[in-house]
Amino acid sequence: MNLSEVESKYKQLKDAISGRKGVPELFEYVEKLGYKTAPASRIYHGSFNGGLLYHSVSVTETLLRLRKVLLREEMLRHVSGESCILIGLTHDVGKLGTEGRPYYVPKWNSGYTTNENNNRPVYLDHAVRSVMIVTQFVKLKTWEVQAIVGHDGQYISANKEMAQKETPLTLLLHFADCWSAFQVEATYNIPNEEWMNEEKSDSSNRRPEGDNSGSIQSKGS
Ligand SMILES: [Fe+2]
Ligand SMILES: [Fe+2]
Repeated sequence: MNLSEVESKYKQLKDAISGRKGVPELFEYVEKLGYKTAPASRIYHGSFNGGLLYHSVSVTETLLRLRKVLLREEMLRHVSGESCILIGLTHDVGKLGTEGRPYYVPKWNSGYTTNENNNRPVYLDHAVRSVMIVTQFVKLKTWEVQAIVGHDGQYISANKEMAQKETPLTLLLHFADCWSAFQVEATYNIPNEEWMNEEKSDSSNRRPEGDNSGSIQSKGS
């Protein structure tokens, strides 16, 4: 997905939920905060100009796909496509900081760092800040709040209390977030190569076909 595809997918997704009260005003506000130009992280995934938009669109698409594949028919109306788009696009808007106080700032040489200047935003976990920003414009349902607050799952200790109390939406968002960040957008390592190489060395240790020595059949017979 190149950045212009991302931009047009974002527009489609945003338009699809524009009937919900406060949504157009919410996106107008986050765009003013830098939603289309901010990075998604310092060095991990989406660490580039526009990375947050890329990540948000990518997570939303993964989330919609997971919803379709994993949820039983009767669950689909409880986990609406509208909720998935809204929380997929906004779960990380807390990474924008506040007006004039960005969460990430460019590093002197290249890349980004968290804003440690005297105009840094008051500390809040970014997921909590996302909820704060969204609820300034849109009334969220309780399970939408849980999904945004808990989207990092058990990777962060603050979510410990939520363990095994997650709603389906929270679990789907968490997995979509991990999948997009680690598999679609990761720039910091290539974990796939590690296990693929292991697989290769495993198969070189396999016995040639027809060699039954050591199999259950030959045991004790
Ligand atoms: Fe996040
Ligand atoms: Fe995320």
